[in-house]
Amino acid sequence: MNLRMADSRRTADSLVGTGMLRPPTRLRGSLVLPSDKSIAHRALIVSALAAGTSTVKLREPGADVLSTLSALRTLGVAVRRRGDVKDLRLEVDGLGAADGIGRLGEGLIDCENSGTTMRLLAGTLAAGSGTARLVGDESLSRRPMERVAAPLRSMGADVRTADGHAPITIVGRRPLRALEHVLAVPSAQVLGAICLAALAADGRTTVRSPGPTRDHTESMLRAAGAHVTREPDDGGTVTTVVGRAQLRASSLTVPGDFSSAAAWIVAATLHPDAHIRLVGVGQNPTRTALIDVLREMGADIELAVTSGADGEPSGDVVVRSASRLRPVIVAPGQVSALVDELPLLAVAMAAADGTSEVRGAAELRVKESDRLAAMAAALTAAGARVEELADGWRVSRGRPRRADVVTLGDHRIAMAMAVAAWSGIAEGTTLDDPGCVGISYPGFWRDAVNLGIEA
Ligand code: S3P
Repeated sequence: MNLRMADSRRTADSLVGTGMLRPPTRLRGSLVLPSDKSIAHRALIVSALAAGTSTVKLREPGADVLSTLSALRTLGVAVRRRGDVKDLRLEVDGLGAADGIGRLGEGLIDCENSGTTMRLLAGTLAAGSGTARLVGDESLSRRPMERVAAPLRSMGADVRTADGHAPITIVGRRPLRALEHVLAVPSAQVLGAICLAALAADGRTTVRSPGPTRDHTESMLRAAGAHVTREPDDGGTVTTVVGRAQLRASSLTVPGDFSSAAAWIVAATLHPDAHIRLVGVGQNPTRTALIDVLREMGADIELAVTSGADGEPSGDVVVRSASRLRPVIVAPGQVSALVDELPLLAVAMAAADGTSEVRGAAELRVKESDRLAAMAAALTAAGARVEELADGWRVSRGRPRRADVVTLGDHRIAMAMAVAAWSGIAEGTTLDDPGCVGISYPGFWRDAVNLGIEA
């Protein structure tokens, strides 16, 4: 079995990204997106903890999801692969018994570039059966980990970080203590980690988030039989998890990734001659705020939800060119529901008639790269007018220039700046690391060709 085939860092299946990127004459066609990265991580972890064999159906998983898969194998979970990367069925033998959730083993786990792998596994390993050490690549080793280590410590696990960063060493304990916790920043990864630990705690854990986060962990745990609630609370949310849970095995088809679809949604909105269909895209409302903002700017986007199993609605998205785009102000309260789409939104802002602004997005500084700085530099190089703020940007149109973009190995920067090039925001663009799109979207360059984009 060679799941690494899906990792386009090594197997760029198209040369499009390696040349000079320019606007195509038109964008036409229909695409099926890779499976949602956030849901896929959780589906694999929850399956590993359940009693019995679960099936997770995935399409073209990126390198991050493969990091979670190989971590689970190292931690003692048997996973069998059926089908090919476009129609992958992973059979996961859960470690759970009928009277309780599974207990991951021990080992050295390389989470590579994946923050979701590191944080969600930290939560799961807090109730594990030994000592695990989580390491990551250079980018992941710079990202803040104390936000997940501190609550897990309060639950009774022995969690050590290197000055707040990876490597994280975790000695699992069981039962853990239930926790009442307030997140300092809205984070689905930290909230998810605490929820996973809380499954093995004595009593009810309560986590308040100051802003809304994606709710995939809560939905999936509920579908697997855990007692989990989530309520809106003063602009944020309160999640509760009842401990000493048992999870049922399940069969789950992971929908298309909205954050991957977002690249084509913005590209088609900005291109003057576009009409595209994106098939089977996840449309969980905690993820789709980009659509609301683009529509406010004047975008022509149709959504249809045709499937909704396990609280994860999905369906097709049809996008046509916008005749003109109005500027927009994104308020801090909107940020967490479009956090991964902000680099693409900055590109749309650079095409609008006027000055747009995003505030309350300081979290972008601690993603795979400092995305506020990276996008300000890349869009400025492309000729747009960008003022980098401490917690956002002010963006308006400029005169397109040739841009040699430094992606910092960040998949979202690479895809956003490819879209900028195809939309004519920049005049001729090169990317220093086009293969980094494989973190979330290995078929990105091939799909560009499918929409009529040429090398
Ligand atoms: C994710 C949550 C978000 C997002 C990341 C994936 C998840 O991060 O940026 O790409 O799957 O939980 P936060 O935990 O900071 O919200």
